Amino acid sequence: MSTTKPAHPPTRTVHRVFYVNGEEHEVAFAPHKTLLEVLREDLGLTGTKHGCELGECGTCTVLVDGEPILSCLMLGLECDGRRIDTIEGMAGESGAHPLQTKFAEFGAAQCGYCTPGFLLTAQAVLEEDPAPSREKLAEELSGNLCRCTGYLKIFEAIEQVAAEKRGEAAGE
Ligand code: FES
Ligand code: FES
Repeated sequence: MSTTKPAHPPTRTVHRVFYVNGEEHEVAFAPHKTLLEVLREDLGLTGTKHGCELGECGTCTVLVDGEPILSCLMLGLECDGRRIDTIEGMAGESGAHPLQTKFAEFGAAQCGYCTPGFLLTAQAVLEEDPAPSREKLAEELSGNLCRCTGYLKIFEAIEQVAAEKRGEAAGE
């Protein structure tokens, strides 16, 4: 008796527990998938954008255990049990995060495609340093590309948030 191989063998899936935006999710996904793919395709969190998928543009940035990570370069399998924060979780119960508000006020989000990555990276920078210099901001955000040449507005918006958190006007 001859058996015919299926043209496309069934894709193996793995089951893992992710902690995303403060909630526990059990998710089944193909083991070759990147974190970016798992977030967008298996968890339906499409706020994380895919751009180059080569680690060069920063649009896919999320926070893993509080650190900015390029989710296109990390396997979903590496995130088992780790804390992941995406743009969908940035606003709190009281409304938009101050960085989101200032990005809107300063016109720092132009096409917006890069914005989730910038916001999450900026959030991590301010958690670590409440008064980053312009040079430090530029360095920390150098992995996030904006093709709309909006860097000045982005820096100003972040500096304003930092200043207000410190109870100062920006530039003091
Ligand atoms: S999509 Fe990840 S760095 Fe560009
Ligand atoms: S606002 Fe960043 S690429 Fe346009």
